Amino acid sequence: MTDARILVVGQLARDVVLTVERMPPPGAAADVRERRELLGGKGANQAVALGQLGARPVLLAVAGADEVAEDLLGQARRDGIDVSSVVRRAGAPTALIVEALDAEGRWRYLQHIPDGMLLTEADVTAADDAFGRADAVLVQLQQPPATALAAARRTRAAGRLLVLDGAPADDGHRAPLLAAADVVRADDRETELLTGVPADDPDRVRSVATELLAAGPRLLALGLGAAGNLFVWRDSRSGGSAALLVPLTREKVVDTTGAGDALTAALTVALLRGDPPDAAARYAVAAAGATVGHPGGRPELTAGALRDRLADLDAQLPATAR
Ligand SMILES: Nc1ncnc2c1ncn2[C@@H]1O[C@H](COP(=O)(O)OP(=O)(O)O)[C@@H](O)[C@H]1O
Ligand SMILES: [Mg+2]
Repeated sequence: MTDARILVVGQLARDVVLTVERMPPPGAAADVRERRELLGGKGANQAVALGQLGARPVLLAVAGADEVAEDLLGQARRDGIDVSSVVRRAGAPTALIVEALDAEGRWRYLQHIPDGMLLTEADVTAADDAFGRADAVLVQLQQPPATALAAARRTRAAGRLLVLDGAPADDGHRAPLLAAADVVRADDRETELLTGVPADDPDRVRSVATELLAAGPRLLALGLGAAGNLFVWRDSRSGGSAALLVPLTREKVVDTTGAGDALTAALTVALLRGDPPDAAARYAVAAAGATVGHPGGRPELTAGALRDRLADLDAQLPATAR
């Protein structure tokens, strides 16, 4: 299923990406070397990635009733995203994320995400049809927990593949979110939140991840810093679990922003088309690697870029893991 319909439940924002040589200290200024103004926010970035990978993305997000939103939604349409479920809400401006990036790849985000630009449970209910028509649903846990849980339950009820991006907060929503999920993807920091184990200890992360498989998800993708990303899944043949630590691709990292979103999108596409977990894992990391070489979170997932990164990963992984 390459042209799968995938619903993304998450954030849309105006991204302003400013590249400087060095971040100025307080009371000083720095000249901007490069400025990009883009369609952004994690939800939109994932939807753009899905479109580039051949899926049909549908976005459930909130935009303001302002002109900025008109621009962003126009861009989203040109990216092949179905924006008919995007909620237009007056009373607050469309979310804005200003990213300042230095030459070492260190970023700082200044984000204005007004409460009114967050999805509510009522927004999820109103988008009921979109859930029913989707082959998979990707939910970002940066949205309010009650909203994320409503989206997760709706996905479960429709029997669709549910992918969670982030770490559920350790509150009453955590257990039902994990129970509903098929896949959970966490970055380095979220891995620590999810497992309670420092991300620099792959063996302990793996053993906690194996326990988490009993809580619901059948596959976990966990960022482990410089070691790469650990994928742990239920192995139907053995009845136990299997794991693959996929290293990072070898390249100059300009900006990691959006690489996690590309990873999540590619993992979803690969699983939907029936790739086995180890192949899906490589494809996902290849997509992340193809996103770290440029400023800003907007992915550029061309076939050539993915092919190069997959070859790099094959060269790094031991033959037995292929
Ligand atoms: N050189 C690289 N090759 C492949 N993946 C990378 C590389 N550098 C960073 N990554 C991955 O990019 C991801 C960044 O995730 P995250 O911080 O969640 O990004 P965002 O939320 O901005 O999309 C991590 O999974 C990390 O392992
Ligand atoms: Mg992330």
